[in-house]
Amino acid sequence: MRFDIFTLFPEVFHPYIDVSIIARARERGLAEIYLHNIRDWTTDKHHVVDDEPYGGGGGMVMKPEPIFKAVEGVLGSPPTCPVILLTPQGRPFTQAVARELAQQPHLALLCGRYEGVDERVRQHLVTDEISIGDYVLTGGELAAMVVLDAVTRLLPGVLGDPDAPAKDSHAAGLLEHPHYTRPPVFRGWEVPEVLRSGDHGRIARWRREQSLRRTWERRPDLLAKAELTPEEQELIARWEAERQREAREA
Ligand code: ADE
Repeated sequence: MRFDIFTLFPEVFHPYIDVSIIARARERGLAEIYLHNIRDWTTDKHHVVDDEPYGGGGGMVMKPEPIFKAVEGVLGSPPTCPVILLTPQGRPFTQAVARELAQQPHLALLCGRYEGVDERVRQHLVTDEISIGDYVLTGGELAAMVVLDAVTRLLPGVLGDPDAPAKDSHAAGLLEHPHYTRPPVFRGWEVPEVLRSGDHGRIARWRREQSLRRTWERRPDLLAKAELTPEEQELIARWEAERQREAREA
């Protein structure tokens, strides 16, 4: 998969994309990442990329010309791949969106700075807008890295365990079960006996129950949308009843 990233700060990507799983995916040709500095596409003496907003008010707005020049200069006009603007006004980024984007052979990520980009970029160049959460960052770079990371790890061959993405939190609409590794006892805190039992049936049942319990405790909004067996629904109803009984007794 190919990523073209358009930004005023290409250097901030390197510390992240040059290490660990993303670096390995790049070395193996599974992910190709090209960084483009929008400032390189300015034609004026001072390489200006922003200007004051029409209508007044504070802040600066990214000018349309360098952005169009950069994106069309690299990808052609019109670009044939999705051009995604990272913005707090975009559609919320989720694991489902990561899976959707991982189907594409090529993505362009456009990182805004300052108060944002000239509206004509959104209207006539951008084909999708993504937000990584309801908070405002100083620019789209961190958001682009989040998208890049979540999508790259889903590409076939990137993770050592091909089944790993299917087991992740959010993959099946639930949070994942807890994990333990050696030592079996640390400061007196033991690894649950079931995980050391070697009984794969019991382990799978325990993990599923833990996954349900965590989701029930932390993210009931996810549970409402998850596919549950009648037995699992019954289990949750029992937890609910227990919680209500405890609340009455408290
Ligand atoms: N740029 C600034 N804040 C952002 C956010 N929450 N998501 C995506 N891009 C952004």
